[in-house]
This record gives sequence, C-alpha cells and structure tokens, in this order.
Amino acid sequence: MNAVVEQHLRTLPGQVQHRKLNAWVAEICRLAQPDQVIWCDGSAQEYQRLCQRMVDSGTLLRLNPALRPNSLLARSDPQDVARVEDRTFICCDSAADAGPTNNWQAPQQMRATLHGLFAGCMRGRTLYVIPFSMGPLGSPIAHIGIELSDSPYVVVNMRLMTRMGRAVYDVLGAGGAFVPCVHTVGKPLAAGEKDVPWPCNKTKYIVHFPKTREIWSFGSGYGGNALLGKKCFALRIASTMGRDEGWLAEHMLILGVQSPGGAKHYVAAAFPSACGKTNFAMLIPPKGFEGWQVTTIGDDIAWIKPGPDGRLYAINPEAGYFGVAPGTNDKTNPNCMASLRSDTIFTNVARTDDDDVWWEGMSKEPPAHLIDWQGQDWTPEIGRLSGRPAAHPNARFTVAATQNPVLDADWDNPAGVPISAFIFGGRRSTTVPLVTQARNWVEGVYMAATMGSETTAAAAGQQGVVRRDPFAMLPFCGYNMSDYFQHWLTLGQRLALSGAPLPQVFCVNWFRTDDSGRFVWPGFGENMRVLKWILERTEGASGGLEHVFGVTPRYEDLSWTGFEFSRADFERITSIDRDAWGKELELHQELFTRLAHHLPPELTAVKSTLQERLAA
Ligand code: GTP
Ligand code: SPV
Ligand code: MN
Repeated sequence: MNAVVEQHLRTLPGQVQHRKLNAWVAEICRLAQPDQVIWCDGSAQEYQRLCQRMVDSGTLLRLNPALRPNSLLARSDPQDVARVEDRTFICCDSAADAGPTNNWQAPQQMRATLHGLFAGCMRGRTLYVIPFSMGPLGSPIAHIGIELSDSPYVVVNMRLMTRMGRAVYDVLGAGGAFVPCVHTVGKPLAAGEKDVPWPCNKTKYIVHFPKTREIWSFGSGYGGNALLGKKCFALRIASTMGRDEGWLAEHMLILGVQSPGGAKHYVAAAFPSACGKTNFAMLIPPKGFEGWQVTTIGDDIAWIKPGPDGRLYAINPEAGYFGVAPGTNDKTNPNCMASLRSDTIFTNVARTDDDDVWWEGMSKEPPAHLIDWQGQDWTPEIGRLSGRPAAHPNARFTVAATQNPVLDADWDNPAGVPISAFIFGGRRSTTVPLVTQARNWVEGVYMAATMGSETTAAAAGQQGVVRRDPFAMLPFCGYNMSDYFQHWLTLGQRLALSGAPLPQVFCVNWFRTDDSGRFVWPGFGENMRVLKWILERTEGASGGLEHVFGVTPRYEDLSWTGFEFSRADFERITSIDRDAWGKELELHQELFTRLAHHLPPELTAVKSTLQERLAA
C-alpha cells in the first residue's frame, strides 16, 4: 500500500463509516496515485478556498467585484470546449443492448483500457471526494453519487450544480447505495512540473457501465464530460435505472404556468442541446399576458415517475444551471441575466477591460476591446477579419438555481410536480411547423422519436447539420433507443389503465427561417403565445386545424394582443410543404431501418398512416 492510501485511511472524516465507499476510494488512490486526498464538505469556506487557489494558480480569473461580485472566469484548453459524443461509451454486456445510436465496447475490454489510462493519472494532483445528491437530499426519488476528481474546477461547479456536501454522508449511512463516478483530467504532473491553467488530455473517454452503475471519465474537464452528476448520471445511468424501475430520466426542462385566476400547470419540454430549454424555462410572459406567471422547476433534466393517482410527477435532479451564454441578454432572457449578476462561474466567455464578461448577443454592439475566450486581444475589427467570436459558441455559465428570480416554490419538493403536457422541439430552419399537437400518446411518441434537429456547438463536431435526435436523447440514452421508445409506449399504456388523463404531447419549432436566413418567429418571451395555446388544448379549450401530422393552430387560435405578427409570416412558419414532408418521412424511415432491432411495431404503423394521409 502506498503512502497516499495510508494517509487517506488515517484522515477519513469520522462520520464516513461506509465500508464500500472507503474501500473504493482506497482502490482508486492505489490506481491513480494522487499526492493527497481531500474529502469535500460542500461548505462555503471550502468553495472560497478552492476558488482562491485556482485564482492563484491561473485557472480562474476573479471578475470585478463591483460589477460581478464573487464571480469567476475560466478559459478552457481550445481542444476541450464541449461534450465529446464520439468518445462516449455505453459498456453493457451486449452491443444490442447499447443499440446502434451508442458507442459500445465490451465491459472487460473497456475496463482494461481504463485501467491502463488511470494508472498513475493523478500523480502530482489532489483527489477530491465529492459527495452529491441528485434530487432533494434524502427524498425517496433522489439518488446519491460520489465523484472522485482531480479537478478543483469540477468540485466548485458540482457545488453549484448539485446538492453537494457532508449531509450526503449522513443519508448514505454505513451501507447506502451510491453511483461511483471517477474523473480525471488525465494529465499527471511530474515532480516540480508546473501545471497549465486547464489541464486535459487529447485522449478522452466518457464511459458508462450501466449494469454496475459506474461512470469513468478521462481526459476532459468540460461540462457534461466532467460534471458527472449531469448527463452521465442523471441521464445515461438514470435512464437505465428508469427502464428497470418504471420511470423516466429525460433531457427536459420543467416549468410552471399560472394564468390569471386559472389553475397552475406544469409542462416538461425536451429540446436538444443549445435549442432553448434554459430560455423557455425562464420565460417572461410578454405584453398582453399581464397576470400570467412562468416559474422554473428545472432547465435541463427531469426525472419523472408515475404517482399513486396515475399522473406523472417530475423533479429536477439538479440544483443549478450550466447554461449557454451566447445569445443571452436583457431582452431575450432578463431572468437569466438577473441570475448571473453575482456568484457565477463563467467558462469561455470574453472578458471586458473592466474585468466583466461579454459574449456574442449580450449587447447589440460589442465593446471596443475585449480579451477573447482564448486570452487574446479582440476588437470588432479583429472579429470581422478573422471570423473569430469573442466568446466560444459553447461558452457557459454555472449558477445555483436559487439565484433564479422565478424559481418555482416547488422546485425542491421531493414529491415533484404533476405534468400536464410534454413538448418536443428541434432546431429546424425548414419543414417543421411552429407547433403541432399529437392526436394521441402513440402518435406523440412517434413525433418525439422521429424528431430532427440541426447540430449545435454543445457537442464537438460539425454544426448545423440536421440529424435525428429522438426525444432530444440521442447522446444521452443509456440503452437501446428502440427499447427506450417501447418504455415510453408501455408507460403510456400503464397510465391509461389507471384512468388518469395522459399528458398531451406537442412538437414545437422556434427556428424556421426566411430566405435570408433570419428567424421568422421572434421566440423567447413570445413563445408564451404558443404555450398558452398548448395549455388551452390540454383543457380542450382552444381551436386548431387537424392535418396530416396532428393539430396546429390557425392564425386566430393564438393570442396576438400586444404583438404584431402578420398572417403571411404566420403562414411562413406553420405551412406544411408536402414535398419537404415526403423527404422528411424518408428520413424517418432511415432512422427506423437503423433502429429496426426491437423497434415497436406501433411506430411503424403510425408511419404508414402518416404516409397514407400525406399521399391522400
Ligand atoms: P443545453 O444547456 O445545451 O441543453 O441548451 P438549452 O436547450 O438549455 O438551450 P438555451 O436555452 O441555452 O438556448 C441555446 C441558444 O438558443 C441560445 O443562444 C439562445 O439565445 C437561443 N434560443 C433560445 N430560445 C430561443 C428562441 O425561442 N428563439 C431563438 N431564435 N433562439 C433561441
Ligand atoms: C448539453 O449539451 O445538453 C448541456 C451541456 O446541457 S453539458 O453539460 O456539457 O452536457
Ligand atoms: Mn442539456
């Protein structure tokens, strides 16, 4: 046993009496060989201490306390700026169980690879033990994770993003279950070697073992690659837990809507990465909607379980937002801007000359001079000539949910909130209309399963290409996508048997463009007009036109008070082009051919019906 393991065993905090946890930490120490181990307590002092250490070492920059109190800026390595989907693996026993949409490797083979990569990978660094709860601490729907990471940046982000700290050990007790998450930046330091501000490794592995509910992440410090409670646990591992236990883990925001004098509703909406979840979750009702209120339960992930009354109840397993900075401003999302006024970690945004932050879209005119996300001088002129943005397109902020001025009173309610409607939406410059209601659950599942979206900067790789992104879960489903569709269908049947009303299913698209490539629909707050129609439809109180794919509103079915939007523009974003839809259905078929193994026959049947309707 080496000295660190011995030291670790000697310095165990008194309250951590969990044999399995202690044995696992010792095992990872033996493998990764960190210089020291710190058991994090989640306190404010610890947060401040780590932040200061990172400021001193050059990993973080402290922003101007007068303008942006208690806030920091991190600049990542230019090679480490987004999730790496092609380096993400689901290692279940059989390849068929991972399905054609996931990268698969045999668990034994992957374990051998990881063993090699992790051997000595934390030399010269500190291993932090990060205890966190996804969901309200101690709630029957919450699950505990422990992340072992050699990145202090990960520690402070996890403190904002999850319920992290000492209390987790109390809930865990001597034998409670937890999801073990191991993370390394993959850059050991030789004796005396000076560290770089953002250590990482060209080689990256984001690995999930669904059977043993383990996560291993190597080589990246960024977002979903490294904050393992988020996509790795709360989506990929949790989706397999949900399959086994009869619930759903979804890439969905959850919002509350209260109309003047009306009932309060909750809706959950799945849009792919960087397609508008955070913005929709914080929507401010526009002119003409006085007395309406939209409140946030969550902005990215929902865990949804059937309640005893046959309705679906959702919680947000997270406790903070890791949101897209570019495009956010006081007009599009004042609630978000208010959330970011202090106590925020910014990553890969630009820095102003007075040590505040800036990103594309924050103001119409950029400041005359900036330090860009790579630490270089930037002026509007340089930007124009080089085509380089000042902030990386996937620049992000990390902030605690409690800073959101419209946080829902029930956001932390362990029982969750009842869901009235599901909304699915992609980023489509053509073809898909503003909003469509599915005729029934099965057609809703079809709609979500066949959803396409243009790729964004949230993932490494080519951008702006339409790809199928079923349920916005393409990169996040921890098992076979066809089995996942079946899980949704089965859940619907089960709920229908209970006699409770099933949530209605809708599909939206805020992103249709005109000939010059501009968005026709203003989006953001004006999306309230669509949300209102959706709620009215769930109550059977609003008109619409039935067409090939479902029901869409006519111009007069939406409320236009306080806003001028012409019939012609409305036509532009709601029209259904038969040729385009003919091609779209071919793409559905392509997806279904790929997913043929276990594909529920109900979905193929819906497709045939749609094809017949389209041809009629
Ligand atoms: P992830 O955190 O990656 O899951 O993204 P998200 O789905 O939460 O997306 P977010 O709300 O952060 O929006 C991503 C980008 O889309 C930002 O640049 C927004 O300004 C922009 N956006 C959001 N909503 C709308 C909208 O209604 N219309 C238009 N045109 N753009 C929008
Ligand atoms: C997404 O890509 O959907 C995100 C950001 O929410 S990340 O945490 O990096 O996955
Ligand atoms: Mn997301």
